[in-house]
Amino acid sequence: NYKSTVSITVVGASGDLAKKKIFPALFALYYEGWLPEHFTVVGYARSKMTDTELRTMVYKTLTCRVDQRENCAEKIDKFLERCFYHSGQYDSLENFAELDKNLKKHEAGRVSNRLFYLSIPPNIFINAVKCASLSASAANGWTRVIVEKPFGRDSESSGALTKALKQYLDEDQIFRIDHYLGKELVENLSVLRFSNLVFEPLWSRQYIRNVQFIFSEDFGTEGRGGYFDHYGIMRNIMQNHLLQIMALFAMETPVSLDAEDIRNEKVKVLRSMRPLVFDDVVIGQYKGDSRGGVSYPGYTDDKTVPKDSLTPTFAAASFFIDNSRWDGVPFLMKAGKALHTRRAEIRVQFKHVPGNIYNRDIGTDFDLTTNELVIRVQPDEGIYLKINNKVPGLGMRLDRGHLNLLYSARYSHEIPDAYERLLLDAIEGERRLFIRSDELDAAWSLFTPVLRELEEKKIKPEYYLYGSRGPKGAHDLASRFYVQWGDLREED
Ligand code: BG6
Repeated sequence: NYKSTVSITVVGASGDLAKKKIFPALFALYYEGWLPEHFTVVGYARSKMTDTELRTMVYKTLTCRVDQRENCAEKIDKFLERCFYHSGQYDSLENFAELDKNLKKHEAGRVSNRLFYLSIPPNIFINAVKCASLSASAANGWTRVIVEKPFGRDSESSGALTKALKQYLDEDQIFRIDHYLGKELVENLSVLRFSNLVFEPLWSRQYIRNVQFIFSEDFGTEGRGGYFDHYGIMRNIMQNHLLQIMALFAMETPVSLDAEDIRNEKVKVLRSMRPLVFDDVVIGQYKGDSRGGVSYPGYTDDKTVPKDSLTPTFAAASFFIDNSRWDGVPFLMKAGKALHTRRAEIRVQFKHVPGNIYNRDIGTDFDLTTNELVIRVQPDEGIYLKINNKVPGLGMRLDRGHLNLLYSARYSHEIPDAYERLLLDAIEGERRLFIRSDELDAAWSLFTPVLRELEEKKIKPEYYLYGSRGPKGAHDLASRFYVQWGDLREED
């Protein structure tokens, strides 16, 4: 309301994430009128900078989306007028107390609400939380803190981090971001399941043969491997992004759309999963290749990566959920960098039609396949269902068709970036898409034993060529369950 204001402090304002995602997302929200009437954006970092310099820096990061072109320049100017800079150390109570004064000036006596976005490395973030909370909390409104992964490296370090955070913040002030939860198609997963009659009855071991969660990027770490090398692909993508999607995919119907109801169901399903063991996992690392006169670097060619690094840049894993809905259904995950394509998708492979008369009676050149539902998170967002279909004509020939909901054909507006949704939710106090402490604990319990074993035994990753389809081990893992990765089939 007009008597209150929101101050958004981006701690680590000159970092990559702030420039690439946070400022552009705040501007997009502003453009669409989603931000409260009175708001202030403050960039906080160590280096000295004036407000004007910050504005120039932010300006360079802003673009107007195709559907946000009207009055773009004017809107950018207005937005920049609300952006300020504050220089300070991340662990200085005094510097945060000065920030507090600065914020008060902008708040001008309105009820103050404060959002801190911590876009800084993990080793300094507890100190920053401490200082923000003790020196710069809102006096009469809410104070919330958005934190970015990594939330630790294993159960132990994550537990310690949560404990430290909770010295200064209540659970409902902590907004742990997993930006995959802000992706349109991931949010749509629950809509698809729970607001359509046709899917939910099939959503179980009775009809589903296996489910696949696939992430691939067609580029490597490219000089930014220093951070990555300490974590590896299983912590970077699987333990968070893919596991979160899997929890939403497999959970029971929540009591309501309320954040706690949804998160309760997610925790339940995570806790019903069997922790990964060594045999369930295949790891890989890309090596250099040259094709068509272009040479592609291997992971250890990255100057920021140790030459003898065993860190996986690819992993495949099989999970089982020991509950009545999913007993015996393999849930396969695959994530990799420097592969042949960039995409993220969920693939649901259904069982065979029992006693299929077409299989028996036609016996043609066409091999009947099972139905497959594909939810393509990115790029080319869409949902399609593969069906067997009669080729029109007098004969009886079948082929595979797609019932296809391609977003770009169906919806004319651009899909907002995940960070827009998540920032807006944090401002509105909507916690549905953020990770609760117990969810995080459950997620780490599944991965910690195997991560430890891989590291203790110094297991060598299987090498694959930059730009290839990944190591053969992933294929072998899937075939143990008589499954083929859907994304590697010819027709896709
Ligand atoms: C991040 C990972 O969480 O997600 C990166 O740390 C990865 O390694 C990125 O590249 C992928 O996100 P998106 O939205 O581009 O698919």
